[in-house]
Amino acid sequence: MPTKVVVGVQWGDEGKGKIIDILASRADVVVRSQGGNNAGHTVESGGEVYKLHLIPSGILYPETACLVGCGVVIDPKVILEEIDGLKARGIPCNNLRIDPRAHVIMPWHIVLDSLSEKMRGKGDIGTTGRGIGPCYMDKSERSGIRMYDLTHPDIFAEKVRTACTVKNLIITKVYGGSPLDAEAIIKEYTEYGKRLSGYLADVSVLAFEACKSGKNVLFEGAQGTLLDLDVGTYPYVTSSNPISGGVCTGTGVGPTLIDEVIGVCKAYTTRVGKGPFPTELEDETGELIRQRGHEFGTTTGRPRRTGWFDAVILRHAVRVNGLTALAVNKLDTLSGIGSLKVCVAYKKPDGTVTSDFPATLEELAGCEPVYEEIAGFDDDISGCKSYAELPQSCKDYVQKLEEICGCPIKMVGVGPGREQNLEIE
Ligand code: IMP
Repeated sequence: MPTKVVVGVQWGDEGKGKIIDILASRADVVVRSQGGNNAGHTVESGGEVYKLHLIPSGILYPETACLVGCGVVIDPKVILEEIDGLKARGIPCNNLRIDPRAHVIMPWHIVLDSLSEKMRGKGDIGTTGRGIGPCYMDKSERSGIRMYDLTHPDIFAEKVRTACTVKNLIITKVYGGSPLDAEAIIKEYTEYGKRLSGYLADVSVLAFEACKSGKNVLFEGAQGTLLDLDVGTYPYVTSSNPISGGVCTGTGVGPTLIDEVIGVCKAYTTRVGKGPFPTELEDETGELIRQRGHEFGTTTGRPRRTGWFDAVILRHAVRVNGLTALAVNKLDTLSGIGSLKVCVAYKKPDGTVTSDFPATLEELAGCEPVYEEIAGFDDDISGCKSYAELPQSCKDYVQKLEEICGCPIKMVGVGPGREQNLEIE
């Protein structure tokens, strides 16, 4: 069976959860490799809506193993709430495994996330406030607390006391905030550790063995290509690598074990948080897309910024992820909008035109989108059961996207349900 990676190819929120959920129904193993509870996957199944933040979407299938890799940062309170919530709805989490190397989001990470954002003032990043960046900072600095530590009370208590001494100095002296109580944290988090210890297992070994034995393995990405710490719109990015390469470092499997990389995008573009967005629509059309597409954050509830489809971004994503296929979601949202625009290139301040996504924000900020206008479609396509049933104008839009992105489109989404995902032969 081919091993598949699913990644977001815009600024996150592309509807990866639904694609992953569909592919997970055919998968033996689903693996998460980066990010934390900054992500939010909404999955509809059997008329029920599930909002998942940390646990791989495959959890809805009792036979599917769900692995959380070493590159994920875990808020223990949040993962336990998610486990409890799923159990209460009859979904046992027996197949969940968490790598002992994964780093733990501690209370000081959450506090420092908000204090540093406040200090940045107008230059804030617009983070989700979940402590993601500060946790990855400690990981890189080699002072982080890992899941193994959390589940070993003596090691954990010592690490918390050491960390708290330093973090309280930063919180109080640099930011003027209130210090944290190390002993209270130890007491609370040791209980979380006890409850989570049964889930720990070496995800690198499990994922490797699954790939080697020909199992159907699915690596699920969180966030999106433009939020990648290295090839995204730095500094308006997250602190991990959501591109396909991040799967290898975040799970501990080598790139030769990956067969297919599927990029998920929307038929238009959205982003939350700050930073440049060349095709942004700050008008009625943008508002219409936001309302029709329910473009409000799963994690924070923030309204998402909306804009036209940007093929320059997509070509960047095809390259940096080595995409083998694309899934285009939310085509139905564009019905009745009127004629549609697709950004095919950027015009630079010196008048030259480029089809390559600029490497820096400064260059990106000076770019203007060059659009091609395409006829829109008015039909309600949400009930279409196959790609062939779509109106020709709709197929023309999809074909145009495929042509300018340089990647085959294999799936099209016409609604949130599993059955509203049309596969293209
Ligand atoms: P952080 O990941 O909370 O540090 O936030 C950094 C940036 O990434 C902010 O602009 C967030 O809005 C954005 N971000 C993080 N996770 C997601 C996601 O799952 N979807 C969309 N944007 C995200």
